[in-house]
Amino acid sequence: MPTIRLQTEVPGPESRKLVARREAAVSRGAAYLTQLAVVSGSGATVTDADGNTLLDFAGGIGTLAVGHTPTDVVAAITEQARQLIHMCSIVASYEPYVAVCEQLNAVAPGDFPKKSVLLNSGAEAVEAAVKYARAYTGRQALIVFEGAYHGRTNLTMAMTSKYALFKSGFGPFAPEVYRLPFPNVYRRPAGVDENAYVDQCIAAFDHALVAQVAPPAVAAVVVETVQGEGGFIPLPPRFAQHLRARCSEHGMLLVLDEVQAGMGRSGRLFAAEHYDLVPDLFVIGKGIAGGLPLSAVTGRAEVLDAAHPGGIGGTYSGNPLACAAARNVIATLASPDFRVRSEALGARMRAHLERLQQAFPQVIGDVRGLGPMLAIELVKDPVSREPDADLTARINRATLERGLITIRAGLYSNCVRFLPPLTLTDDELDEGMAVLHAAFEACVGPAA
Ligand SMILES: Cc1ncc(COP(=O)(O)O)c(C=O)c1O
Repeated sequence: MPTIRLQTEVPGPESRKLVARREAAVSRGAAYLTQLAVVSGSGATVTDADGNTLLDFAGGIGTLAVGHTPTDVVAAITEQARQLIHMCSIVASYEPYVAVCEQLNAVAPGDFPKKSVLLNSGAEAVEAAVKYARAYTGRQALIVFEGAYHGRTNLTMAMTSKYALFKSGFGPFAPEVYRLPFPNVYRRPAGVDENAYVDQCIAAFDHALVAQVAPPAVAAVVVETVQGEGGFIPLPPRFAQHLRARCSEHGMLLVLDEVQAGMGRSGRLFAAEHYDLVPDLFVIGKGIAGGLPLSAVTGRAEVLDAAHPGGIGGTYSGNPLACAAARNVIATLASPDFRVRSEALGARMRAHLERLQQAFPQVIGDVRGLGPMLAIELVKDPVSREPDADLTARINRATLERGLITIRAGLYSNCVRFLPPLTLTDDELDEGMAVLHAAFEACVGPAA
């Protein structure tokens, strides 16, 4: 029996009504990717305001690793709400906050003493990581990369790459941020093989340490293990190891922003585990608390202790409800069973997407990612690789009309990224992928 059940067209009349109210009442700066109004969610599905049941492959942009309203997380939040909804960790200590930090310290890679801090959003955690790195090293400069997304606050905007969508009209931006090319293997120069390209990127990184900023000025290299918003581009392993080596050599901290790639999304709790890569700091967010606002910085204890007391945190950081959810979610995501399942899901999803690429080779230029964190890149022509943002938008509309929620990514807005709950069943995955295939047939024409 199919999971998707449609009673009306999508978006239906009730969805459109709410979106009209939203447009009248809500800042247009807080934009929306679909015209859908959702009432409830369960597992990998949501029910919209018109009573349609849809499959959700956007998963709260990667937040719903354990699905919508998972029973044990709902129970943990409910129980916590009966005891203590808020206290403020600046005023007094409560056990769930400390327990989540203990959990993160135990599960994060790195054979050294670790500490953690809890915050509300990914951007806030990136900012905190930068504060720690500056306090610890006594240096100011940050190295970041093209295609990076780190958030929408002033500092993280400066660190974010895609200008038109995220930065336009919002300057001036924070200083001492140096942006270097990110090795995007799919978009390497024609005729250069992958290995040689990674060598060139390594050489360009080293050159920038002379030409742009010198290591004694650099507090941290901040990089996504797999670029998220940038289009699911994994760090090439040799480039990752090179960053680690240069950071260690020069006393720059390696900060891995795993807000999107972490917490099980790549099939491992931390994407860095795929690389045997140990950063000085991890930035964690999204999937950590099943949809409640929580983020964290976890890493070397001496770095986390370099900030002066009172310099980090805020009123809601590490709220008890979010911590109660996170305890439960981290335990699930760290379990060997979950890892086996998400790796299997990743393999099955990749096989589907590769078959889709074979069916539509004229427009699907690339299938890539790590484990179940996968995206496809759409192009006008597979040889020129000219990005096709228009087709991407049409595909996302066509999937939605058929009951599957998908969203775009990429510097050129020409990728479709898949961030379903990792609790998705094989049947749900197969059904979603059949819808995706139908959307391509509708937008591109018959399969090859
Ligand atoms: C890699 C990365 N860093 C930081 C952020 C910002 O997180 P938030 O939206 O919770 O502030 C995001 C959000 O998508 C992200 O993908």
